[in-house]
Formats: sequence, C-alpha cells, structure tokens
Amino acid sequence: MADEVEAEKEREDSFFAISPFMIFPEAYGNFSVYLKKGRHFLLYTHKGEQFTERHKETLYEHGVDELYIHTSQKLDYDEYVQQNLGGVLSNESIPLPVRSKVFYHSSTSAIKEIVRSRLPTTASAQLLGRLTGIVEASLRFICSKDALKTVASLMSHDYDTYTHSSNVFIYTAAIVETYYKRESEKIQCGLGALLHDIGKVHIPKKILNKAGKLNATEWEIIKTHPVKGVGMCAHIALEQSAINAVLFHHEKCDGKGYPAGLTKPYIPLPAKIVSVADVYDALTSKRPYAEAMTPFKALSVMREEMESAFDPDVFKRFVLVLSGAGIA
Ligand SMILES: [Fe+2]
Repeated sequence: MADEVEAEKEREDSFFAISPFMIFPEAYGNFSVYLKKGRHFLLYTHKGEQFTERHKETLYEHGVDELYIHTSQKLDYDEYVQQNLGGVLSNESIPLPVRSKVFYHSSTSAIKEIVRSRLPTTASAQLLGRLTGIVEASLRFICSKDALKTVASLMSHDYDTYTHSSNVFIYTAAIVETYYKRESEKIQCGLGALLHDIGKVHIPKKILNKAGKLNATEWEIIKTHPVKGVGMCAHIALEQSAINAVLFHHEKCDGKGYPAGLTKPYIPLPAKIVSVADVYDALTSKRPYAEAMTPFKALSVMREEMESAFDPDVFKRFVLVLSGAGIA
C-alpha cells in the first residue's frame, strides 16, 4: 500500500508510534504519517493531507495497528490532538465504539508519555495544558450515554502502570460526576487519578513485578511511591485536590493505610474516590501474583473483606455507576 512512497532510513527512536484511531476523521494534521516495514518507515500520508476513510480502511484490511510520526513533528501532533479530541469525542455522528477507542487510546498514550518522560521540569506548562485538555474532553465523554459500558469492553485487564492509570482515571471520572458540580474540581480529580501512581517510576521493577510476597523492606520501598509521586508533580501547577489524590490514594478509612495513616474524616474526597477505583482495577486485572477477578467477585471482596478501608458512600456510588453501565 505504501510501495511507491519514499522510505525513511532513520533510527527507530526518530519516530513514535500512535494508534490509527488517533488520526481523526475530517481533521487535517500538520504532520506526516508513516508505516513501518521491517526497519524502514514508509510515508503514508503527507503533512496537511487529509486522512480519509479510505486510508483507514486500507490499514484495517492490512491489519496495521500502529502508525508512526517523526519526533520532529511531535508538537504538531500534540496540538492536533488537543484541538480535535473534544470535537471528535462529542461528535455523535461518529459511532460510539470508534469514539470509545479514541478515548481509551488518548488517555493511555497520555499516561504512557508522562511515565516515560518522568515529568520533565521543562515544558511543564504545555504538558499540564495538554493533559488538562485530554481530561476535560474525556470527562465529558465518559458521562455520555453508554460510553462507560463501551469503554469498559475495551479496557485491558493485563496490569501495567499505563493501563492501570488509564483504567483508574476512567472509573474515577465516572464517580466524580456524581459528586462535583464544578468542571474545575472534576478536572483536578481526573488529573490526580491519571497521575496517582507516577511515583512508581522510582520503584525497582523487580519489586513492582515480584510474583511472590513482598518482604518488609520491599514493602517499605513500595510505600514511598505516593510521596515520590507528589515530588514529581511539584513542578506542574496541580491544585491541592489533584495532589491529595496522588499523595493519599493508599490511605484507608480505618487508619491502616499509608503514607500518613489518616482516618476517614481526614482523607480528602479525591483520594477516597481514587482509592476505590484503584483497588477495583487492581482486583479485576491480571497481576504477577494473582489472576483477574470478575467485577462481581471484586466488588464482593471489597465489600466483605476490605469494607473498613473505603468510604461507604464512595463505594456505594461506584457500585451504582458500574451497575448503571451494566458492568456489575
Ligand atoms: Fe498506588
């Protein structure tokens, strides 16, 4: 399909991968799109060329699930996503499953980029602006009719930091809608959910992925990730509620959590919400030391074995959100 176009003989790290779903219908991008064949990158559409349905169908017919963009055009791509995501997600003429895939890919790739970049001190204002745009468009979408149900069917349940953060963000967004009226409060809570485990980039992989039980020392190391996460977020201008979600998402209402051992009245609401979303996603995901539970089983475990950890009102609302979406 791209036989006649020029091949870019460049290093692999000169390109970054995106999902075909991130090239939106009817939007012109100020960047070129490439395919990968062996070690070569083949130009598929030129900068400024419309990416038509025919282009998409051809990719689909050939089973292509990754496209590439040159890193020199990354800012143009980011701007394109920022400008078009909200419009695409709210455009009801685009089928819900397609918009759901756009939604899931955009939130997962945002967190992937953040984790890989380790929140650089430079360009933090642009990064926060972009993240806020994604969160804002996503919050509106996830609360629209049948969106949560459709997105849930796309969620990966193989645990890794990227998919976990994205899933926690999605569940948080659905709960947040039942609590907050102000858009800015919802956005901050969503940002906190997306970034809640960012501190894990400083935890050794052999501890994070350990199949057996953690020893006391390893456990102490794991417990540092909320504080480390807040340290990493220090140079992006998050509001207190987002920081609270990152710092206190492992607090438990009975005071047995960490890092501060706060009890129910003292745990901020965004942290209580992220905590429920976090545990539910962990239980329903396949982890190195446990198989994934069904939604019903996970909620039963949370209700019967972990009851004292969660705020009952947050948990009740979460169950209602899931049952309303036909998930549990
Ligand atoms: Fe965590």
